[in-house]
Amino acid sequence: MQSECAGLHVGLIMDGNGRWAEARALPRGHGHEAGIAALRRVAEAAPDLGVGTLTLYAFSSDNWRRPPAEVAFLMSLFGHYLAAEAERLAARGARLSVIGRRDRLPAGLADTIARAEAATAAGRRLHLRLAVDYSARDAILRAAARVTCLDDLTRDGFSRLVTGEAPDVDLLIRTSGEQRLSDFLLWESAYAELHFTDRLWPDFGPDDLAEALRIFRRRERRFGGLPAAA
Ligand code: IPE
Ligand code: IPE
Ligand code: MG
Repeated sequence: MQSECAGLHVGLIMDGNGRWAEARALPRGHGHEAGIAALRRVAEAAPDLGVGTLTLYAFSSDNWRRPPAEVAFLMSLFGHYLAAEAERLAARGARLSVIGRRDRLPAGLADTIARAEAATAAGRRLHLRLAVDYSARDAILRAAARVTCLDDLTRDGFSRLVTGEAPDVDLLIRTSGEQRLSDFLLWESAYAELHFTDRLWPDFGPDDLAEALRIFRRRERRFGGLPAAA
C-alpha cells in the first residue's frame, strides 16, 4: 500500500457546469469544459493550502441517466484531461487515482486512466482522486461482498475495503447552491465538515478553496466528545 500524502482530505462535489453554460446561452458542454479548467486550477493550488488528498466528483453512476450526447462528451473530456495532464501532475508531485467502476466506461478510457495512474504513481505531494462512474452505496455494497468472515470484521477493516487507502474526509465542499451528497463518499464522510457555496463550479477557484479551508479551521470537530474547553 502506498503511504498517503500529508494533509487534509477534501471532497469536492463539482456542481453547476450546466447552469454556468445556460447563464451564458451556451451549450452545456461549454460548462463542462470550463469545469475542467477549474479542476486544473484547484488541483494545482491544493497542496499549498494544506490539502493532501483531494477527491473530486466528476461523474456519478446516476449521471448515466443524462442524454447520451452529454455523457459521450463528458467521457471524451475526461480522456483528454487525463492524457494531457498526467505529465504535468507527475511533475508537480501529484498522484492520480480514478475511483468508481471501470467496466462501463467507453473503450479506451480505462486504458487512458491506467496510463495516467502509472505515470503519476510516484507523486507524494497530493493524492488527486477523480470519481468517475462512482456511487458510494455501490462502493459499500462491493466492500460487503468481499467480507469473508463476519466474526473477524472490524470497523477499520471494513473501512479499508470501502475506501482502499484513502483517509476519512475532513471537509466536503459542494458548489452551485445544492445541499445534498448525491451518493458521494458516504462512508468516508461520517464526520466530515460540510461546506456549501452558491458559486458554480466553473467559477470556483483557489480563493474559494482557501476560504472554505479558513472556515473549516475555525470549526471545532468533536467526534462525539465534548468541546475542548469543557
Ligand atoms: C456538474 O455539473 C458536472 C456533472 C455532474 C457531470 P452539472 O452538469 O450537474 O451542472 P448543473 O447542475 O446542471 O448546473
Ligand atoms: C452530482 O451532481 C454528481 C457530480 C457532481 C459529478 P448532479 O448534478 O448529478 O447531482 P444531482 O442530480 O443534482 O443530485
Ligand atoms: Mg448538477
